[in-house]
Amino acid sequence: MPPPHTTPPATAPNVAIVGATGAVGREMLAILHQRRFTHGTLKLLASSRSAGTVIECCGRHYVIEELTEDSFRGVDLALFSAGGAVSRRYAPLAVKAGATVVDNSSAFRRDDDVPLVVPELNGEALNDFSGGVIANPNCTTMIVLMAVTPLHRAVGVKRMVVSTYQAVSGAGAAWMNELEQQARDFAAGRPYTTDVTGRQCLFNVFSHNSPIGPDGYNEEETKLRRETRKIWNDQSVKITATCVRVPVLRAHCASINLTIAKPTSGEEAKRILEQAPGVRVVDDRQANRFPEPIDATGVDDVLVGRIREDTSQPPGMGLELFVAGDQLRKGAALNAIQIADLLL
Ligand code: A2P
Repeated sequence: MPPPHTTPPATAPNVAIVGATGAVGREMLAILHQRRFTHGTLKLLASSRSAGTVIECCGRHYVIEELTEDSFRGVDLALFSAGGAVSRRYAPLAVKAGATVVDNSSAFRRDDDVPLVVPELNGEALNDFSGGVIANPNCTTMIVLMAVTPLHRAVGVKRMVVSTYQAVSGAGAAWMNELEQQARDFAAGRPYTTDVTGRQCLFNVFSHNSPIGPDGYNEEETKLRRETRKIWNDQSVKITATCVRVPVLRAHCASINLTIAKPTSGEEAKRILEQAPGVRVVDDRQANRFPEPIDATGVDDVLVGRIREDTSQPPGMGLELFVAGDQLRKGAALNAIQIADLLL
């Protein structure tokens, strides 16, 4: 990790988005517009492949510049979402040039001196921040913790079992494009295009496309465990997960089973979640309406429902929930910009 450098000025920072042509980068640009984020210059950076390309956002056109070692001169705030290798190489250069980096990759999340921040949950992790890199948590971790942290604070989560239903957006714009292409292939009766994903995604469900470690858990599952412990500052909480991709474009869902310390009914859990910032309870049993990815898409809040006591555990000691959250917004771009807001 590079040494801490300067923090952005109090007003109108010069901003750079690294990975601006990607799924998260484009969402970052849209959110800067939507939230009327006050900035000075705005640099949109991507690989040499995209240099000179014009992208459109909210009625304006932007020219993409190639990311180089000199890209960060005069930049105060650099939002990175171009993968771990790019972050590892260029984030230290951005910090050296005087920028604060908010990094969406997993490159620095485990570093002790890098805060891992969800503003609604652990904004205090920035209290002693004096510059350098701030890490955006993994998208699944963030969406799950938006619902589980308020319960943890109120009734103490001892164990969490998570099963995910993850959108292809988490693997980037190219995966989203290929899922759409597979839908066109199906409609045209053609063989599926699998150049990017290497498999049929449409009408299919498959284990998360991250490497599997010697313990049998894939990286996404391991991130959920490690990052939850760091965000909660609690190494004792027990967490296990199975992470799976589904043919959904951009919102992740997760089924969550909790073992808790303080006896709590489903109704009490629902009341806690109704008060939680950034969470919207969608729990209409009569109409069978609960969180769905299509309702979470483009929405800032994480939707939570199916809130009930787990009757397989001792009375009051277990809870069940189901969440849906936009992977590109709260799961990535929105959180990064909320961190920037908090810093400024
Ligand atoms: P490019 O479009 O030029 O390849 P996604 O996560 O949606 O796949 O997006 C990845 C983002 O990271 C894109 O903006 C991509 O730019 C960018 N990127 C990938 N590799 C590099 C690189 N070596 N240098 C700069 N940007 C990169």
